[in-house]
Amino acid sequence: MSRKVIVAGNWKMNKLPGEGAALATELRQQLSAEILKEAEVVVCPPFTAISAVAEALRGSAIKVGAQNVHWAASGAFTGEISAEMLKSVGAEYVIIGHSERRQYFGETDATVNSRLKAALAAGLRPIVCIGELEAERKNGETNAVLSRQIRGGFAGIDAAAMAQVVVAYEPVWAIGTGLTATPAIAEDAHRFIRAEFAALFGAPVADALRIQYGGSMKPENARELVACPDIDGGLIGGAALKAESFVKLIHEALAR
Ligand code: PGA
Repeated sequence: MSRKVIVAGNWKMNKLPGEGAALATELRQQLSAEILKEAEVVVCPPFTAISAVAEALRGSAIKVGAQNVHWAASGAFTGEISAEMLKSVGAEYVIIGHSERRQYFGETDATVNSRLKAALAAGLRPIVCIGELEAERKNGETNAVLSRQIRGGFAGIDAAAMAQVVVAYEPVWAIGTGLTATPAIAEDAHRFIRAEFAALFGAPVADALRIQYGGSMKPENARELVACPDIDGGLIGGAALKAESFVKLIHEALAR
């Protein structure tokens, strides 16, 4: 099964609109048409920069995503944002269930599930994040945690809709810490995740599903990670904030 590599930049709470547009412009200048044919590249700015970044990328193959979406279409949800709102400013992807949202903002598997359903219904392509805490890994609970996140987060999702979905495995202990899972640790988790999706949706869906690794992926380790059979790209935080490192990382991922 050949799955197209997908590398997404999660800018988190960084970049004003002008800064985001400048970074996007550098990316479109530095990523050749050939590279963008081989790899799907997505950038996920904060809400306030989506419009400027989408404008800077108009006509380019680089896609734009958001970092969260609410499940309702509209209404009394102060501080939230709907799928249609995201689409209206040029977002095609949306990150759902990032561990920072789970840790700091009360995100649960149930809210991930609601957001996922709303994103799919609106035609946004979700990047759903899962991953264990350091203590959970130390206690030997990694697979149980991943299984719970998958079964809760994907409850009631149609197998047909899974073609739109990307999953990001992000061990929480590796995010923003400089600690990367070794390729062997990451591949073990990715293989387990793919088997879980096979159990839920069937082998063809699981075989086609792209699973990104996230957690201190950088130019220096991207190649060996993406070389693993079940790792199909990366969700990149820190290394996505500068064109030089993000472009280099994409080249390394494709050199797998
Ligand atoms: P990091 O972040 O690459 O800075 O570790 C990854 C993420 O949180 O998506």
